[in-house]
Amino acid sequence: MKYAIEVRGLKKSFGEVHALDGVDLAAAPGTVLGVLGPNGAGKTTAVRVMSTLTKPDAGTARVLGLDVAKEAAQVRQRIGLTGQYAGLDPNLSGEQNLVLVARLLGASRRQAKTRANELLERFDLAHAATRAASRYSGGMRRRLDLAASIVRRPEVLFLDEPTTGLDPKSRNGLWEVVRELVAAGTTVLLTTQYLEEADQLADSIAVIDTGRVIASGSPAQLKRAVGGRVLRLSPARPEAAPQLVQLLAADFDARNEDGAVIVPIAHTGEAQAVMARVGRAGIDLTAFGLHEPTLDEVFLQLTGHRTRNDEPVKEMAA
Ligand SMILES: Nc1ncnc2c1ncn2[C@@H]1O[C@H](COP(=O)(O)OP(=O)(O)OP(=O)(O)O)[C@@H](O)[C@H]1O
Ligand SMILES: [Mg+2]
Repeated sequence: MKYAIEVRGLKKSFGEVHALDGVDLAAAPGTVLGVLGPNGAGKTTAVRVMSTLTKPDAGTARVLGLDVAKEAAQVRQRIGLTGQYAGLDPNLSGEQNLVLVARLLGASRRQAKTRANELLERFDLAHAATRAASRYSGGMRRRLDLAASIVRRPEVLFLDEPTTGLDPKSRNGLWEVVRELVAAGTTVLLTTQYLEEADQLADSIAVIDTGRVIASGSPAQLKRAVGGRVLRLSPARPEAAPQLVQLLAADFDARNEDGAVIVPIAHTGEAQAVMARVGRAGIDLTAFGLHEPTLDEVFLQLTGHRTRNDEPVKEMAA
């Protein structure tokens, strides 16, 4: 099997809205595919199709070689999914929820309890093991939802914005869990609004906008494809930043970011031209440097949007 996830020409419309307009995706076994895109790009719709929850209008999605539309039951047995909260019972405690999932998957009472407690520990929920899930905070529910999706290690795991609304410690914890699962052979598809997360975890990235894949490749390839590097100038006086931007505006796409001026450049000759102009204008700098673009900058350039928009954590369906 070349790909654990293989999607071709996927289309899905809701009335006038083409949520998916011919999406192709592929992930080799044991790798992480990051799916990035602004709000409404079609990420959740794609995840819902791949995890058998929604039927596509056209195109095919294969998971572990199985057709998700025709062999949905078999696909469901071998995947994990989070982001829906569908499996959790808000009236049960965290521990009871995980024991229930383990029992449904065929574990003995004792095995189920052991696994539940391991996971509660792992996701920093041991202190709230006996509290009803309805009384968990948003971040705690999200962690419980994640724990439930890996009670049995899935062969393919779909994570729809797994760390939105998590604090940095929980986010790092989740990254660690993902790395362990992948090391053990799981293939992970994750959507995220955090480009650092994609940079940290993903072997390959697909950028989606308005239902289409507009760029794909490894994080390094995407950074290279967008081209060039960025020159970052830190003026000695922060008030000089707007003046610098204006000075360069005619020839460069300079912008002011918190008192530093960021100038995308195509080649080093341009950097020299910028520095010469700054010198002639007599603006003092405390620092300057050439950098690879960050994935944030790549994303901005590709889609014209910034991604980070810390939405509130979606509530668990009661
Ligand atoms: N059940 C539905 N009924 C009608 N329209 C829908 C439905 N689900 C999704 N859409 C529309 O399809 C488009 C894609 O939505 P989707 O939820 O897949 O985006 P997303 O990339 O996950 O966005 P976000 O980053 O906000 O989670 C949006 O325009 C959305 O309004
Ligand atoms: Mg979504």
